[in-house]
Amino acid sequence: MNRTLLLVLASFVFAGNIAQALDNGLAKTPPMGWNSWNRFGCNVSEDLVRKAADAMVQTGMKDAGYQYIVIDDCWQVSRDGDGNIVPDPARFRSGIKALADYVHSLGLKMGIYSDAGSNTCGGRPGSRGHEFQDARQYARWGIDYLKFDWCNTSTQDAPASYATMRDALADSGRPIVFSICEWGNSRPWLWGAGVGNLWRTTTDILDRWEGKGEKYGAGVMDIADMQVGIEQYAGPGHWNDPDMLEVGNGHMTDTEYRSHFSLWAMLAAPLMAGNDLDHMTPEIRDILTNKEVIAVDQDSLGVEGRRVRHTSDGQDVWVKPLSGGRQAVLLLNRSARDQSMTVKWSELGLAPGQNAAVRDLWTHKDLDATTGEFSAMVPSHGVAMIIVRP
Ligand code: GLA
Repeated sequence: MNRTLLLVLASFVFAGNIAQALDNGLAKTPPMGWNSWNRFGCNVSEDLVRKAADAMVQTGMKDAGYQYIVIDDCWQVSRDGDGNIVPDPARFRSGIKALADYVHSLGLKMGIYSDAGSNTCGGRPGSRGHEFQDARQYARWGIDYLKFDWCNTSTQDAPASYATMRDALADSGRPIVFSICEWGNSRPWLWGAGVGNLWRTTTDILDRWEGKGEKYGAGVMDIADMQVGIEQYAGPGHWNDPDMLEVGNGHMTDTEYRSHFSLWAMLAAPLMAGNDLDHMTPEIRDILTNKEVIAVDQDSLGVEGRRVRHTSDGQDVWVKPLSGGRQAVLLLNRSARDQSMTVKWSELGLAPGQNAAVRDLWTHKDLDATTGEFSAMVPSHGVAMIIVRP
């Protein structure tokens, strides 16, 4: 074999390595949990995290399937003389191990945050050059989930940088869900499945219905639009991540939060609550714990939903195939006025004469078996969400 052929073969093997699904056995359905960032930013502490974990149990969120309690940026302050990462001694006075033990004692799992570059987005020490040391430390602390950000990475290559942390986590000996957070910059859906369990597809979500932020960030509708066309890259163990939930953070209506939550379920998105679990209204709790909507997100087929209609009068129709030949359908009214919306069986690939049972996932009612189509009055910025079972 000549040298060129060898090189070509070697590059195929390398590329194949990246493209294969990450084999850590985790996140067979989209991860569910809570993350501190959207509501609390850098204002994290062990008291806050304990309260969130307690509330996760008391509010019924744990029963509904939420599992991971993730501390986002700003828990870390420096490195010691040996290069070990040092948690903020004032805010995490008992240390991360004790906090993880507490979270585990409630039957929940513990997550943490770092960054592939020299520093995190909040300016704290990043993991660059310390990947294996950090991964071993996380394993010793009992960490189950790592969100790995992309600030201050200069000329680093994203697939290579994330592959290094993947290998470090594997080497740590502890199963740790790996959450890639490079904002979709280098199209992680093309290489993420071999590297992480989920990858952010966009800029940061904002607690608003639509529109871009001044520097970065985008509203829920803008983020949803950016998911169109990358559905086929998601599946069990490797998910597109349209960012964490803003449900309950105060700048949208309950109707809009219901739509946001429904859409994320249609997208088979990770469901990471981002609100103050300790102080939420019954309406917000009912949204976050709607087990029928969660079941769409967590369906064992693991197929991401698609948008099958997007009209100029603000009508979106999204469809997600489910196990057992069922389909979830979301009628989303993006317009400023209430509208009647209809989905025709032909849009679901069903014959017009097909009998099908229809279940409404927000009113929790079986509707009369219908043929041919389903219609509903949908409020402005609201949804009707159903399962169609032929
Ligand atoms: C980036 C991420 C956010 C959050 C912050 C923390 O902006 O995309 O989700 O982790 O950093 O600083």
